[in-house]
Amino acid sequence: MGDLLVVDDISVFYGPIQALRSVSLVVREGEMVALLGANGAGKTTTLRAVSGMMAPRSGAITLAGERIDGLPSHRVVQHGIAHVPEGRELFAAMSVEENLRLGFYSERTDRSLYTARAERVMDYFPILRERADQAAGTLSGGEQQMLVVARALMSAPRLLLVDELSLGLAPMVVSTLFEILRAVNEQGTAVVIVEQFVHLALENSDRAYVLRKGEIAAEGASRDLLDDDTLIASYLGEGEPAGSDA
Ligand SMILES: Nc1ncnc2c1ncn2[C@@H]1O[C@H](COP(=O)(O)OP(=O)(O)O)[C@@H](O)[C@H]1O
Ligand SMILES: [Mg+2]
Repeated sequence: MGDLLVVDDISVFYGPIQALRSVSLVVREGEMVALLGANGAGKTTTLRAVSGMMAPRSGAITLAGERIDGLPSHRVVQHGIAHVPEGRELFAAMSVEENLRLGFYSERTDRSLYTARAERVMDYFPILRERADQAAGTLSGGEQQMLVVARALMSAPRLLLVDELSLGLAPMVVSTLFEILRAVNEQGTAVVIVEQFVHLALENSDRAYVLRKGEIAAEGASRDLLDDDTLIASYLGEGEPAGSDA
């Protein structure tokens, strides 16, 4: 399969602080790729650079051969990248349906396209169809995370970026969410998952990159990395975060 996303030698700064140092990675068409690393390693910053929330100071990012680094987020979405950021931000007082509508390009007025897309997205999340008229703030934590993912899918992305999907959720809910991501991926959307829970991420991905202090420290097939506990432990420091059942 061809390369969809190519991150080539990027450096990213917060003011004087360098968060990423010569980071390069590739996501091929249809792949599910995990981005691993201890707290502060640069996972979130990498996703921010790809989705246009931050501009790299040097290096290049291309999607299907087109340069996207330095573009604002709303332009990057039009290129086909959707980002589920850390922290699950929803409009709590707005209904599930209204939140979904926000994921549809704002300049689009095509009602039949909207309806078809909302139906397709809600097929992945039947519970959201049941709750379409309910205020987002009244949903459970797991349902809110589903809604954030569903909203991202409303742009019909070629590449979906998901940051800390499992944060604060019960294991049952997390496995449901991962099943849905895999289904989305099987339908052709490439996915990048950032996860603190290493085994969960490796079990649900084709390949993985390990970030350490802003640099890529390791990469490989997820299956091989799963078999190499010592390598994972050495790069991630403390190992699994508290509360992991892996
Ligand atoms: N808004 C910010 N301002 C300054 N430094 C930041 C900011 N966000 C992250 N950093 C720093 O950038 C580095 C990478 O952070 P981040 O990408 O959030 O890591 P991760 O997602 O892997 O935990 C860390 O050293 C962190 O302290
Ligand atoms: Mg993070």
